[in-house]
Formats: sequence, C-alpha cells, structure tokens
Amino acid sequence: MENSSNNRKLSRRQFITITASIPACLAVLTPMTLLGGTLYPPKSLMPAPPKMAVIKEVDLQDEPVEFVYDGAPAMLFKREGEMIAFSRVCTHLGCIVLWNAEGQQFECPCHGGIFNANGDVVEGPPPKPLLKLATWLEEGVVMAQLKEV
Ligand code: FES
Repeated sequence: MENSSNNRKLSRRQFITITASIPACLAVLTPMTLLGGTLYPPKSLMPAPPKMAVIKEVDLQDEPVEFVYDGAPAMLFKREGEMIAFSRVCTHLGCIVLWNAEGQQFECPCHGGIFNANGDVVEGPPPKPLLKLATWLEEGVVMAQLKEV
C-alpha cells in the first residue's frame, strides 16, 4: 500500500506541464491587463471636464442663457439668485431638448421625453436626469464645468 503523502507528489510530467503553462498565462494576461488599463483608465488619469466662461454676471438676466459646452448645447438659468446649468442633450438617445418657458420644463422633440426645471425626468423614455453643470463666479464671470459623473 502506498503512503498518502506519495499521492501528493507531482510527477515529472505534471511539474513540466504546470511550469510550462505559466509563461503562456502571462502572455495572455499581460496584454489583457494593459488593454483594460487603456480602455478603462483610473479616474485619476482621466482629464478633468473643461471649464468655461459662460457670461458676465451683470449680463445674466431672468431669461435662460443658451451656450455650447464642450461641443454640446447647454442652458444656464438664474433662479432666486442661484445659477444652475444643464446640458441640453437628452439622456435617452441624445436629441437636443428644448426649454418650454411657459411650462417651465425641457421637452425632447424626438420621443416625448420631459424634464422638469431641475432636469429630472417627468415623462417619457429618458432613463436619467439631464446632466448638470457646476456653476460659480470667477472675477464677475459665470463659469461652468461638467460635474463628475
Ligand atoms: S432622445 Fe429624447 S426622448 Fe428619446
């Protein structure tokens, strides 16, 4: 009868098979790791969203101000002394929402999505609220920047 500790010994063939597979595993995993780092870089390596000057504070009235942020339409409001800005790109399929001043809501012409004045979805297929832009004053100028997503 064989000793049970003998059963645990690796045969020469098993040892060679295992050690030979290590470089093969590294050859597969290393590019996958590098590719993963390229496709999904850590947030610390991602460029910050651009910040931009929208309008001088003295020129900001009660009417909303349309502007283009990072190539996409956006809108700035002044409500009760507070500035608030939204991207006008619909979160459903990317159509440009229109501001309905009478109804105080954003309306998407494509599939009937409706967002309230805070950018929250009220009706229709959009899955998420409109993107909000952070706003602040810098030397009398209203600045805007996309908040971290
Ligand atoms: S793209 Fe706006 S509701 Fe579909």
